[in-house]
Amino acid sequence: MFSAQTYQDRRAILQSNVANGILLFLGNIENPVNFEHNPYYFRQDSTYLYYFGIQEPRIAAIIDIDENKTIVFGDELSIDDIVWMGRQETLKDKSLKAGVEETLPYAELSQYLLKAQSSGRKVHYLPPYQSSNKILVADLLGIKIAELQPSVEMIKAIVKQRSIKEAQEIVQIEEAVNVSNEMHLLAMRIARPGRKEYEVANAIQYLAANKECEMSYPPIVTINGGILHNHYRLNTLKEGDLFLNDSGAETAMGYAGDLTRTFPVSSTFTTKQKEMYEVVLNAFENAQRLLKPGVRFKDIHLKASQHLVEGLIDLGLMKGNPEEAVKNHAHTLFFQCGLGHMMGLDVHDMEDLGEQYIGYTEQEPKDTKTFGLKSLRLGKELESGFVVTVEPGIYMIPELIDIWQSENKNADFINYDKVNEYRNFGGIRVEDDFLITDDSYRLLGNGLIKTVADIENYRAEHLD
Ligand code: GLY
Ligand code: MN
Ligand code: MN
Repeated sequence: MFSAQTYQDRRAILQSNVANGILLFLGNIENPVNFEHNPYYFRQDSTYLYYFGIQEPRIAAIIDIDENKTIVFGDELSIDDIVWMGRQETLKDKSLKAGVEETLPYAELSQYLLKAQSSGRKVHYLPPYQSSNKILVADLLGIKIAELQPSVEMIKAIVKQRSIKEAQEIVQIEEAVNVSNEMHLLAMRIARPGRKEYEVANAIQYLAANKECEMSYPPIVTINGGILHNHYRLNTLKEGDLFLNDSGAETAMGYAGDLTRTFPVSSTFTTKQKEMYEVVLNAFENAQRLLKPGVRFKDIHLKASQHLVEGLIDLGLMKGNPEEAVKNHAHTLFFQCGLGHMMGLDVHDMEDLGEQYIGYTEQEPKDTKTFGLKSLRLGKELESGFVVTVEPGIYMIPELIDIWQSENKNADFINYDKVNEYRNFGGIRVEDDFLITDDSYRLLGNGLIKTVADIENYRAEHLD
């Protein structure tokens, strides 16, 4: 945990940004896999972690703004619990570490909220994403799940605060990124013809686990990088394949890293792979250089898209004016997703609070309809203190190519004959994590190789 003062200061800031009422925070529960006492891995809710830091299932908290009180709700272990789980630090002591002096049994949360509601006070709550918490909030407030109305005022105040990372949070994120760097170097050392995708996935997870880290998301470790979120891992690597590794560690305190590298299973890139890789790397490097406060991330996304188009024109897959091509969304045949997202306690930071609030503004809302832009999670102006990913890519999706070609879609910008030569090419993505500074940006972590020469040399030296 951070210091008690940290949590007190964070709560004081939040409290000053919401006019009145009660702020309700729900921790997560242990979700059963196949019966109650066999749960999935427990991960505390990130907003709960941010304001209270306590990593325990089935706890809640309130900040009563009107009465200036903060209470953690939860149950101390019963003697039955102690028989099975052993003595543990009490919830009271954990709460004190978060700077909270008052704890109450979980069952009293309901009475507290009912009393507040009956005197006409507002209960602010966030959009629950775990089914159990949807049911719980509805029960606590005496309404149906369909009638839940999360507090926009609370969401906005939290997003404003959590978006600007503290120095101690950056230390945590860099720790996560550096473990992620090691995971990626290990993958580059062990991926080779004959290995299974899952062998690489297992090895990098083992490395992270030995450094007391979890995964910040299920790793994408695949020879089919054209499939954006591909979790199938049974393929055998073979000569000529491209290997895409999108994986990141999460520190014990919950902070994420999120990196992608793509490299050949053979000792060197083929000419075709190298040419495509350099198109993506060029878009990445140009996008990185544009990072600074005041610049709209959507504009960086569109610029990166234009660099991809320019590269694809050079290779003969696209044609025409690159700017016009991007205006017509022709690049989305190859780059169907967004350039990046916020990162912090969540790999897609605060995504549970709503993409519109995290990545956009009321004046410039998210485009939720246009193919490509609807997958851009971050569009608004960058601010000093944001942590973002930059992750351009080229993805060949045969089914998408066939649909576009049958509709002759964007035929002014796309050479379908040439594209079909690449239809089974797969995908390439390069992804790093950046802090936006007062006038520019800083790469987080110690840096991970990404040029063709560096990757080929590293693999030549270290393949074991
Ligand atoms: N690892 C998921 C992403 O890059 O957004
Ligand atoms: Mn990412
Ligand atoms: Mn990623």
